[in-house]
Amino acid sequence: MTEPKRLHVITWGCQMNVYDSGRMADVLAPVGYTPVPEPDGADMVILNTCHIRDKAAEKVFSELGRLRRLKEATGNRMILAVAGCVAQAEGQEILTRAPYVDIVLGPQTYHRLPEMVARATRAGGKVIETDFPPEDKFDHLPEASAPQGVTAFLTIQEGCDKFCSFCVVPYTRGAEQSRPAAAILREARHLLSQGAREITLLGQNVNAWHGEAPDGSTWGLGRLLRELAGIGTLLRLRYATSHPRDMDDDLIAAHGEIPGLMPFLHLPVQSGSDRILAAMNRKHTAETYRRVIDRLRDARPDIAFSSDFIVGHPGETEADFEATMALVRDVNFAQAFSFKYSPRPGTPAAGAGQQVPEADKDRRLQALQALLREQQARFSANCVGLDMPVLFTGTGRHPGQIVGRSPFLQPVHVSAGADLIGTESMVRIVAAHPNSLAGTLLQERRTA
Ligand code: 5AD
Ligand code: SF4
Repeated sequence: MTEPKRLHVITWGCQMNVYDSGRMADVLAPVGYTPVPEPDGADMVILNTCHIRDKAAEKVFSELGRLRRLKEATGNRMILAVAGCVAQAEGQEILTRAPYVDIVLGPQTYHRLPEMVARATRAGGKVIETDFPPEDKFDHLPEASAPQGVTAFLTIQEGCDKFCSFCVVPYTRGAEQSRPAAAILREARHLLSQGAREITLLGQNVNAWHGEAPDGSTWGLGRLLRELAGIGTLLRLRYATSHPRDMDDDLIAAHGEIPGLMPFLHLPVQSGSDRILAAMNRKHTAETYRRVIDRLRDARPDIAFSSDFIVGHPGETEADFEATMALVRDVNFAQAFSFKYSPRPGTPAAGAGQQVPEADKDRRLQALQALLREQQARFSANCVGLDMPVLFTGTGRHPGQIVGRSPFLQPVHVSAGADLIGTESMVRIVAAHPNSLAGTLLQERRTA
């Protein structure tokens, strides 16, 4: 019998990291670790880091400074681990600058955590595991055990082979790798048995998924979505994040055929200028992006889009930026994320000439965000008066209120009993707030 120990995981960054943090907790459960909500007094703290944009490493070192004091308060008994993409990128540098850290592990080595903990405790030694091991970590991870709730994540693909000029992901997460369909279907059934009603398939390039099918052939994402949609108790499916180049015919058709595939797609375009798209190595034009959007709208007329944008990539002129604004006006996004270009060490764009002055980046970002905010507000306002299915996920802030998600991922507040949580019901939208909607329950359509 292993002694009970307390584990606290701090998660920064994308949904992939949220999923990874859950799996790290799963893999440590058999050796006695139970998750606790606070780091104070914990036997082990894992800082799961993100390297995608600005000052990632500095943020990690300042958080480690805080955790060091908590570690000292435990008489240095606390095991401190740094995981995720900063761990992968910085490796030894973390132990040099923060020698009180015990374990540094990259995203491909989580399944080896119990052994790393044993090594760190036994020898009091330091552990660095940032290689890309030959075995597939998914083959060595236990079934996801911690219930994720009504909406769950499932990683089906990892890594990226695209090498966009600005992006660290191909270096921190490694080459594209797809999990076999059978393992994904098994995990989906398990999540549903734990109460999940919506599953979001995750991957850095999720629509590049090409996995081994149970009959030995290869499936693409469209086929996988159809198989998942056939599982009885699954209500909703989503996937993120996609690359425009990998939106193939079958996947676009799936949007028209699967009612449970939510009509909301995050499809990053980064820029609307062909010159900058080429400099970014995106391997598509603004026009091909617009065509993909049109074809998705033909397949599923109620579909809405979200995107990512970068302003101030090296070489971006005012005219390039105006092309981005024009694309935003043409497509009309329901939601979007936009960032100032931030040079990532080791990426091609970081060493490129023609870096854009900070003041220009600031001005462009403000103009772009104003336009995107306006489009988001208009999209929400247009929801008022519509009836839409809402999947209830939890209680609201006020007594007697519950909250759920619209098909477009907007939080929707409704006055109704908590017994509806985990079910989907039709709701009439009565008001739009900046980040949520309010509605009234039309009927108690029990779907679960
Ligand atoms: N600078 C700014 N934004 C970036 N992103 C990725 N790398 C950088 C960078 N170096 C943004 C992209 C991507 C999102 C996850 O983060 O828009 O789609
Ligand atoms: Fe980064 Fe481009 Fe790969 Fe996305 S597709 S993870 S932006 S390199």
